[in-house]
Amino acid sequence: MFIGIDIGTSGVKTLIMDEAQKIIASAHADLSVSRLQTGWSEQNPVDWINATRDTLDKLAQSHPKAMSGIKSIALSGQMHGATLLDKKGEVLRPCMLWNDTRSHREAAELDANPNFRAISGNIVFPGFTAPKLAWVKNHEPDIFNQVAKVLLPKDYVRFWLTGEYVSEMSDASGTSWLDVGQRDWSDTLLSASGMDKSQMPSLVEGSEVSGQLKTELQQRWGMSQAVMVAGGAGDNAASACGMGTVQAGNAFVSLGTSGVLFAANDSYLPNPASAVHAFCHALPDTWHQMGVILSAADALNWYAVLCEKPAEVLTQALGDTLKPPSPVTFLPYLAGERTPHNDAAVRGAFLGLAHGSDQQTLTQSVLEGVAFAICDNLHALESASTKLERVTAVGGGSRSKYWLQVLATVLNMPVDIPADGDFGAAFGAARLAMIASEGADPAGVCTAPEVEETIEPQGALTGAYDAAYQRFRLMYPVVKGLAV
Ligand code: XUL
Repeated sequence: MFIGIDIGTSGVKTLIMDEAQKIIASAHADLSVSRLQTGWSEQNPVDWINATRDTLDKLAQSHPKAMSGIKSIALSGQMHGATLLDKKGEVLRPCMLWNDTRSHREAAELDANPNFRAISGNIVFPGFTAPKLAWVKNHEPDIFNQVAKVLLPKDYVRFWLTGEYVSEMSDASGTSWLDVGQRDWSDTLLSASGMDKSQMPSLVEGSEVSGQLKTELQQRWGMSQAVMVAGGAGDNAASACGMGTVQAGNAFVSLGTSGVLFAANDSYLPNPASAVHAFCHALPDTWHQMGVILSAADALNWYAVLCEKPAEVLTQALGDTLKPPSPVTFLPYLAGERTPHNDAAVRGAFLGLAHGSDQQTLTQSVLEGVAFAICDNLHALESASTKLERVTAVGGGSRSKYWLQVLATVLNMPVDIPADGDFGAAFGAARLAMIASEGADPAGVCTAPEVEETIEPQGALTGAYDAAYQRFRLMYPVVKGLAV
């Protein structure tokens, strides 16, 4: 038996998987985000520990037999967050998360140093880890001076599980301190941040062993043998392992809190100018690209709160048949945008409101705006040498067939829906745990799920949606710089 744990932004999910890759049980615990100021987004690392403990306690209670047979665990997690520890391993301040954009000035400064794009292969985005440390250096120098270790969220949970400071390549790629081509920390980039390698965890591949579960935790959860903890992955690479997106040509689109268009690559293909992320994959000697939009399902959830209705009620009200595009255009930049604009300051907009713009018109425009932003990402990947022919949809938003019809028509490519099942980040992590402890063949383990249904582009409406997309593209230059 193997365990996968995903430290998400809105909750921790833990699942048990058997040798046949069947999910035996799963447990969930909620997390909340604190937004003290516009652009800020923080969590207390102790909340991840409590939530993780909670899920494992629940599983130990409900499935003691499965828990007693656990051989290995792997972690997946929200990327980029800066967990700052002092030399005793105590947390120095709340973790600034991946969608915290307060460090946009510091990010631009680091990005102006050509070494960052050349060595890390990526723009220094405000959400990444290095600019967060630069912000702390500028605004909280006392804390900066005490930083003995910087850990990514899941690696802090690993520290609690094992007592070891270890990260792995996929998540480390999002710090701006990794030499992504060489798969190692870069002294040049660390010293440009006033830091050094002693403040970094050691590195393993996602499918390698990173440590052993502490005996007291092994006993607490009734595990009968020594349990190894594998590297795991950043949540996107972990989902890719869960989806079997590990070979060039395979891609998925995730409609989660953020939106991600993820493609596996068999070589390192950076193109920072297009704002594409080029990261190490979780398996040795593989890489991936992705475009990231900051608000995908988050945009719909925001609108659902305004309407005081659950998001599903809003999407169901649109029916099953794709309508012509909404006359209202929505820009989903509620928290700024990464790919393709790299603009932390821009904010969202509705354009084209009229007396007839009812709730449905706006729901439609929100779904379309997110699909258009993902289409921008498709073009960004194309400019980084990746041509996709179809994508698989995952994430909470993919439960709306209407949304997937919009997406297929806007991207003008088939969108596959995997057969019912859980192929998310926690499952991908469990697969990495299995590879690490069994020495199993990664390609044999990370297979793709069966496709239950394929949503084809609606030929009769592709022209109308393309025209609407062109309108959407004209809007960013207009709103850029206007946010107060
Ligand atoms: C990826 C990113 C997000 C988070 C969400 O670069 O910032 O997808 O990993 O958890």
